[in-house]
Amino acid sequence: MSTDTTTLVLGATGKTGRRVAARLRLDGTPVRAASRSGSTRFDWSDPGGWDAALRGVGAVYLVPPTVPGPVHEFVARAEAAGVARLVLLSGHGADTWGDSAFGHDMLSAEEAVRGSALEWTVLRPSNFDQNFSEELFHAPLLVGELALPAGEVPEPFIDIEDLAEVAVTVLAEPGRHAGRTYELTGPRAITFAEATELISRASDLPITYKQISPAEYTAALVETGLDATDVRTLAAMYELIERGVLSGTTDGIATVLGRSPRTFEDYVVRTAAAGAWQR
Ligand SMILES: NC(=O)c1ccc[n+]([C@@H]2O[C@H](COP(=O)([O-])OP(=O)(O)OC[C@H]3O[C@@H](n4cnc5c(N)ncnc54)[C@H](OP(=O)(O)O)[C@@H]3O)[C@@H](O)[C@H]2O)c1
Repeated sequence: MSTDTTTLVLGATGKTGRRVAARLRLDGTPVRAASRSGSTRFDWSDPGGWDAALRGVGAVYLVPPTVPGPVHEFVARAEAAGVARLVLLSGHGADTWGDSAFGHDMLSAEEAVRGSALEWTVLRPSNFDQNFSEELFHAPLLVGELALPAGEVPEPFIDIEDLAEVAVTVLAEPGRHAGRTYELTGPRAITFAEATELISRASDLPITYKQISPAEYTAALVETGLDATDVRTLAAMYELIERGVLSGTTDGIATVLGRSPRTFEDYVVRTAAAGAWQR
């Protein structure tokens, strides 16, 4: 068993990684914050740099690459480096994605982590609240209209602060979460239209939700310059949502943290007050 206390946080400049890193530091855990532009350089497409990032590391918060494959080699290197534990970020209901074009990156990473000799835990969160303020939905909200092929099926959005708290708790409790997969959701599923309405009200701005077809959505994103394959993968996520099997809430947050998840309304109030949707 490794006695190293340093945690390697991958995707450390991203939405979850930077929150996980901040919480670990606050708890006094040494953090190696890694990504292409992070304080430790780490590039999924350059395995030559991985061993240096893994040296002296006891645990890894693993945000997978956007393509399937590299995590297998990464896990082998982590084993060789004496890492004890891996906490993988995956996605809600990964068992149900079946033949979808969505999530091949996360499924490949899960396979690699589950097949490792290390202690591992898989976190499977639903869509993030913060997608409305730090991701793809943010720019459309700023111009007053969010157009998606999301339909009427509600989504149990999760606050990334809860996800980060789960990750840090799992990292702090060796053994207790070994071999566990946690399906993590918010406390209530809401439609994208309702989410938009809540944001509009709290920020006192006219913002509407518009239902569009998957073809319209794909065409609009390709026009903004996004890669066509990435866009098809995103469109496939909405097809998964439409199937309805991902709209249920889970007790994953309560199981790990012993409390209820934060509400979408709580996220909206905090984020509106911070000015995220002001033009
Ligand atoms: N958004 C959602 O609602 C949602 C829900 C469930 C699961 N997920 C999963 O969450 C993951 C994304 O996590 P996130 O939202 O925390 O990250 P994010 O905000 O999308 O940021 C991506 C992170 O990965 C790093 N990165 C990008 N390309 C890299 C490369 N080639 N090598 C090394 N690092 C690289 C980026 O930093 P640099 O640019 O500095 O390299 C950044 O730190 C994805 O697997 C996604 O499927 C997302």
